[in-house]
Amino acid sequence: MIAAQLLAYYFTELKDDQLKKIDKYLYSMRFSDETLRDVMNRFRREMENGLGRDTSTTATVKMLPTFVRSIPDGSENGDFLALDLGGTNFRVLLVKIRSGKRRSVEMHNKIYAIPIEVMQGTGEELFDHIVHCISDFLDYMGMKSARLPLGFTFSFPCHQTSLDAGILVTWTKGFKATDCEGEDVVELLRDAIKRKEEFELDVVAIVNDTVGTMMTCAYEEPTCEVGLIAGTGSNACYMEEMKNIETVDGNEGRMCVNMEWGAFGDNGCLDDIRTQYDQAVDENSLNEGKQRYEKMCSGMYLGEIVRQILIDLTKRGFLFRGQISETLKTTGIFETKFLSQIESDRLALLQVRAILQQLGLDSTCDDSIIVKEVCGTVSRRAAQICGAGMAAVVDKIRENRGLDHLDITVGVDGTLYKLHPHFSRIFQQSVKELAPKCDVTFLLSEDGSGKGAALITAVGCRQRELEAQQH
Ligand code: GLC
Repeated sequence: MIAAQLLAYYFTELKDDQLKKIDKYLYSMRFSDETLRDVMNRFRREMENGLGRDTSTTATVKMLPTFVRSIPDGSENGDFLALDLGGTNFRVLLVKIRSGKRRSVEMHNKIYAIPIEVMQGTGEELFDHIVHCISDFLDYMGMKSARLPLGFTFSFPCHQTSLDAGILVTWTKGFKATDCEGEDVVELLRDAIKRKEEFELDVVAIVNDTVGTMMTCAYEEPTCEVGLIAGTGSNACYMEEMKNIETVDGNEGRMCVNMEWGAFGDNGCLDDIRTQYDQAVDENSLNEGKQRYEKMCSGMYLGEIVRQILIDLTKRGFLFRGQISETLKTTGIFETKFLSQIESDRLALLQVRAILQQLGLDSTCDDSIIVKEVCGTVSRRAAQICGAGMAAVVDKIRENRGLDHLDITVGVDGTLYKLHPHFSRIFQQSVKELAPKCDVTFLLSEDGSGKGAALITAVGCRQRELEAQQH
């Protein structure tokens, strides 16, 4: 017993000792309540800029109109094809929606790889590859002659002028195919389908993944008027009052706005809280200077921030016996799933060392204590600033509606949110603290992107029929 106590004491001492040494390097990543409140207020200002007629062109948080004007009402019906591009996987789906008393959604899907040379090759190659996958899927389902309506979940910023037109503003995350930025991606898809000359499809809607997520959750829970993705990328959408969206004509009702919040900070407004590690990650990325907030809080970059800190601490002699190995120099070694594993409470230090070993990093016990602390600090900061963004959103909705108190549901998807052991808890706690007048329920979306695209396509088809009848 005494021996066990001594051992525990020894470990706590050892841990505190190690952590004290590196604290000064992690200090600037630990935010006070006041800083978080400040981030939330800045966020609110950038939202207003994105919505305003005169300020929207130069705004960093783009607040893009989606032409989705209402959540589903249960009357959606039919068979739809959906594509999901821009998340962890590329998928093609067949979604069968049935309305009425026994409403249901049935889905069949297939995952396809998009090789990195296609993600970063020419636009034509990318869209030909997508159509090749659709062709394979239609063969697999035996549906090549059906001319189905299609919803395209395309998880990148697009300037929409209608439900079925979206000009790509800029690629984000790992994509960089040429000749797509500034083009209508629906047209690029239609052209590629024509080139293939094998089947016809009716492209009805282009959908951001946040919007698909919101719609999927709203189908089950009508108080869901916000969508959040905390995964490879980070972004949110919500139902905004038409009268506040000065970039679209009309003042009646609401429209869903794809915020593209990942670009928050691209005008320098977060520079005081960004660290040298954030800058290094940015400089190493495909889109330097862009998506600065996303680079602080999404799955694609958290591991890279950790790697930059570990390199610095190694250089200073606190880690890995001062030796920077080839592994540590390798971009992308720390995938989010490793962060999740390392930070798991159930994991003993020995197991942390085993994971590092798997990554090719030969660590001591002291090293593993430090690595775990670095991971925890980086993911905690991510969850907190993501929470500050969400708090700004729900509080704006509350003010829009002139309420002292708002009950609202947020539909959520994304690997970081779903798989990380602490992210969702810290995120939710931050929202609660920063927006005390809002009661927010978080609803996990199952397959949001595909199902949501189909629901939006169903609404789009119905609208089209109505318009045809009126003419
Ligand atoms: C990136 C994209 C955005 C998407 C998000 C989550 O931020 O620009 O459109 O919603 O990733 O996938």
